[in-house]
Amino acid sequence: MGKRVLRTKLCDMLGIEYPILSAGMGPTLMGETTGAPVELVVAVSEAGGLGVLGGSGFTVDELREAIREIKKLTSKPFGVDLLLPKHIDSKGALGATGADKLPLKEILGSLPKQYQDWIKKIRTEMDLPDDDVIVRFNTTTMRPAEAVQVCLEEKVPLFAAGLGNPGFMVAEAHARGMKVLGITGNSKNARRMAESGIDMLVAQGYEGGGHTGRVGTMALLPAAIDAAAPVPVLAAGGIGDGRGVAAALAMGCIGVWVGTRFLATNEGGALPVNKQRIVDSTDEDTRVSRAYSGKTLRASYNGFHDLWDQSGLPPLPFPTQVLLSSAMLGSFIKAQKNEYVGGLAGQISGIIHEIKPAKQVLEEMVEETVEILCSKLPAAVTCK
Ligand SMILES: Cc1cc2nc3c(=O)[nH]c(=O)nc-3n(C[C@H](O)[C@H](O)[C@H](O)COP(=O)(O)O)c2cc1C
Repeated sequence: MGKRVLRTKLCDMLGIEYPILSAGMGPTLMGETTGAPVELVVAVSEAGGLGVLGGSGFTVDELREAIREIKKLTSKPFGVDLLLPKHIDSKGALGATGADKLPLKEILGSLPKQYQDWIKKIRTEMDLPDDDVIVRFNTTTMRPAEAVQVCLEEKVPLFAAGLGNPGFMVAEAHARGMKVLGITGNSKNARRMAESGIDMLVAQGYEGGGHTGRVGTMALLPAAIDAAAPVPVLAAGGIGDGRGVAAALAMGCIGVWVGTRFLATNEGGALPVNKQRIVDSTDEDTRVSRAYSGKTLRASYNGFHDLWDQSGLPPLPFPTQVLLSSAMLGSFIKAQKNEYVGGLAGQISGIIHEIKPAKQVLEEMVEETVEILCSKLPAAVTCK
């Protein structure tokens, strides 16, 4: 069979062959670098989609190096995703020391006492070792202004903001020939972001892996499309094969932003135990909880969720809660208590049965989408 054609306006906007983007994915715990590394970005962009680097766990210097590495490995367009939180707890537990990095066990002492006591209690009861996670204070999430500057200087073809509104940098990005993408989980925010001048919007539904809102993808997409018009919308949350892509295009989206399916590839940046958990999951095996980051976040269901629920503690604010979850997950990983480990992942885990090369995932997605739109749908639906 010859090469398939699947084009939308997004392909012209970004100079790509297929309207499929691999999502920007950051790390699960502090000390990890990313879920969407250079290798994934290059594989997806080379295969005709657009790969997006998950830049939130990199230091500012590593971010620049990774961007330059991508440019060395592919001449195709690519993207960078950063988190741009409105408020950073830089004077509290995260960053008060002035050091660039410290072992997590040294800084846990800055958490409120009841949280320290709880960590100690679980570690004692379960006979867990200390974590050996290193906390880096100079990540792009802690230094968003510097990180955005790197993206501008490097003229990254697509800049994506996973948290926060990137409207403030649109004029500078456009002057450098870049495109800017915002991400939202509700129609109110979709309107606000569209008005700030961004080029395109990702609407991510409740099904999605990572930080998530309350609205399911099926209800969110038409609402976000209406609210953002004329700014075009890409669909995210629960897309894992051509059926999801075809549905998103039918609803009026110009493309898709796919996380969990690309995480569970050879090139995806998750720990092997987390990739395996995705493969082993049914559609019911993820949970939304504030246990990981302090914000609502979907991850593969595991024993840490239950331990946290039983603690009765209110979650610490983002990103301080990440210290606590990193401490616990780090200990569980070290003790090989895999039933207490799980990474960020979406409900679409239920249809993912195999870790494959990202190129194959993309090609199969394209093939199935074309098959549905050109053959199956016309055969199954009679309309005039
Ligand atoms: C492991 C993982 C890490 C993520 N980290 C980020 C991130 O750093 N920034 C961001 O904008 N979104 C992040 N997300 C959300 C994705 O960008 C995307 O919106 C989501 O995965 C789409 O839903 P899906 O998982 O059902 O495909 C993450 C998702 C996962 C699974």
